[in-house]
Amino acid sequence: MANPFTLGVASGEPLPDGVILWTRLTGVPNRPVEVRWQLAADERFTKIVRQGTARALPEWAHSVHVRVAGLQAGAEYFYRFRFGSQVSSAGRTRTAPGPDSAAPVRFALANCQRYEHGLYTAYRHLAAERPDVIFHVGDYVYESPQAADPVRRLDRTGEARTLADYRARYARYKADPDLQAAHAAAPWVPTWDDHEVADNYRGTGDGSAAFLRRRAAAYQAYYEHLPLRVRPEGGGLRMYRRRTYGLVADFMVLDVRQYRDARSMLGAEQEQWLLSRLSASPVRWKVLVQPLFFARRFVPGPPPNLRPDSWDGQPAERARILGAAPGLVVLSGDVHNHWACELKADFLDPHSPSIGAEFVCSAVSSRPPETDADAVLGANPHIRFFDAHRGYLSGTADPSGFRVSHKGLDASGARTVAEFITDGKMIIRVDV
Ligand SMILES: [Fe+2]
Repeated sequence: MANPFTLGVASGEPLPDGVILWTRLTGVPNRPVEVRWQLAADERFTKIVRQGTARALPEWAHSVHVRVAGLQAGAEYFYRFRFGSQVSSAGRTRTAPGPDSAAPVRFALANCQRYEHGLYTAYRHLAAERPDVIFHVGDYVYESPQAADPVRRLDRTGEARTLADYRARYARYKADPDLQAAHAAAPWVPTWDDHEVADNYRGTGDGSAAFLRRRAAAYQAYYEHLPLRVRPEGGGLRMYRRRTYGLVADFMVLDVRQYRDARSMLGAEQEQWLLSRLSASPVRWKVLVQPLFFARRFVPGPPPNLRPDSWDGQPAERARILGAAPGLVVLSGDVHNHWACELKADFLDPHSPSIGAEFVCSAVSSRPPETDADAVLGANPHIRFFDAHRGYLSGTADPSGFRVSHKGLDASGARTVAEFITDGKMIIRVDV
């Protein structure tokens, strides 16, 4: 029998007492099949902590989402799957610490991985860091037809529109060994941006039944290929949630697409959830994990000078969020370059105090746009740093500070192109 674990293994959604274990079987008969799983305290699987059997159903593309509970907080585990005589590679995972923990959290963040635009070398380096948790802020796949001048080719080159199309797109991306290594290195907490469905879509799109069918197919394929805790229901999928690391970091993971309309980025319900948690949370660092550039970014030259697809399209909503949580840290991406910013109560007033920090992550592989960085930095004094390398973010939050390294790829590998520490107001560049 051929290896059914060609798409790798993954874990995700860490809580203090559990994680989700994921795989998707390929090349198996078109009927329900059973797959064995094991979770161990050691890399050699001599101390098995839990094991069981999961059913992989054809209507969910033979994906498996095992909900493991009753684990120790802040602990490392290893897991693997077996189907017949075939055993998957092993993954490493880690639960979140308990609610009273002051232990530092080491995190990484990545996004924008258009397959034809480049290799996933960034993920090989990210995996080697073995962080406690990996966030992904969208454009995990691109629905678009194959790009011109591809570095590597898709197998199905047309635009994805149906469930079969999206499944094939994920299967192509997930065959990549560096992406598999990043999933096997640590638990993931992903959220999506637009390209998991369609370029720059908002909410229900044009409201047509055809768009809603397409969106439901895309959401289903997303679920089938990521270690999520909840499954799609009624054409929607609840993505906004918090992942809390003791008393140190409250990661608020946002969905900037599903509930969006002309007047709102998050929709009323998600915004209410966010504002109430931001004002009530006793945790030291409140961290927004979401795709879109959050600080004001005025781009000199021909209009539009403010990008309506980013938070510059919803400045009042942005101000409500900033007002609810002084000292906010925002982790974002989408623009295929690294940026670092201070967040202002009033972005138009140069004397307005800084009340938060934003670190914008470059792309894993997607090509960068033409950017006149000097002009943007000159027009926006609160934007303090730009770098055009592809890469990822690597950071540590502890009770006394929040530190972020912008990792950039060059011929010699991945290096820190800049490192910042923030107290929730200023960002200070540190020498590395
Ligand atoms: Fe992107």
